[in-house]
Amino acid sequence: MMMSILLAKKKLANPTVLASGILGTSAMLMQYVGKCGAGAVTTKSCNLQGRTGHPNPSVISTEHFMLNAVGLSNPGAEEERETVKELKRKTAIPVIASVFERSPAHFAEVAALISRAEPDFIELDLSCPNVESEQRMKGYGEFASNPDLAFKVVSEVKDQCRLPVFAKLSPNCSDIAVIARACEEAGADGITAINTAKGMVIQPELRRPVLANRSGGVSGPALKPIAIKSVYDVYEAVDIPIIGTGGVTTGRDAVEMMMAGACAVGVGSAVYWNGFNVFKSITREMQGWMKKNHFTSVRQLVGAAHE
Ligand SMILES: Cc1cc2nc3c(=O)[nH]c(=O)nc-3n(C[C@H](O)[C@H](O)[C@H](O)COP(=O)(O)O)c2cc1C
Repeated sequence: MMMSILLAKKKLANPTVLASGILGTSAMLMQYVGKCGAGAVTTKSCNLQGRTGHPNPSVISTEHFMLNAVGLSNPGAEEERETVKELKRKTAIPVIASVFERSPAHFAEVAALISRAEPDFIELDLSCPNVESEQRMKGYGEFASNPDLAFKVVSEVKDQCRLPVFAKLSPNCSDIAVIARACEEAGADGITAINTAKGMVIQPELRRPVLANRSGGVSGPALKPIAIKSVYDVYEAVDIPIIGTGGVTTGRDAVEMMMAGACAVGVGSAVYWNGFNVFKSITREMQGWMKKNHFTSVRQLVGAAHE
């Protein structure tokens, strides 16, 4: 059973990818995620100066979803570059370095800085829903909802950076296909879809939102149908590969995501619930499903729901 895939010409041993923000904070953790069976790892998003993030409580979890407003805490791009360098020295697993900034020029600067550590891909986090209302991040919230701005970010990054670039999009926009097309026209090598969706949980007895930031981003099983529809729409709109992310917990979820059009499958919240072995279990379950349903290569799944 062939489980390897090609993602923008890079070979992944299987389609599972550690999503950004989950364990992607140290070289040691990401190396271990690779040993536990992930096909690629994505680093926690970083910006030039770093951020402390939002106060606690910043994450809550139920059986159906997680809601987080971690707030893109990170030590800054210089430290992140050293993390990526160390990871590349220690392991052969493909590394996706995630970056964000507040303007197209800053995006290009942070991508160029991280590129020097030679990750395999750059991912542009155009879309974290829980920092966009901050004054110092003014403008950030529109990168994934305004095609002209998305185009500008991707083209400035592509001017400064020779690595393959994935644009990570948001479900919080009127038409994700339009944004994906703008990214492709600007030279993006792939699309990651999706980031979390804006959400809120209120504690009725306290008459107030639970998270200190009030709102956050929804991930996990409740996000999956939204992610599947987003990936389906993006696949119809562009010819570049898609990393489908959102609510994938089982092999069957991953099959669904690939049939919607994903070449690879991001896994985030499921790591919290199921632990490091989730990558192996998803791949094993996919193999079982494929055998039963007469698929010999994982590549045959990509876009199968469009035929
Ligand atoms: C605690 C937490 C932190 C996250 N941090 C980031 C981040 O730094 N950058 C990013 O692009 N996405 C971030 N995400 C979004 C995930 O990468 C992913 O797109 C989303 O959670 C949906 O996938 P899942 O349902 O498998 O978790 C974060 C998600 C969670 C739950």
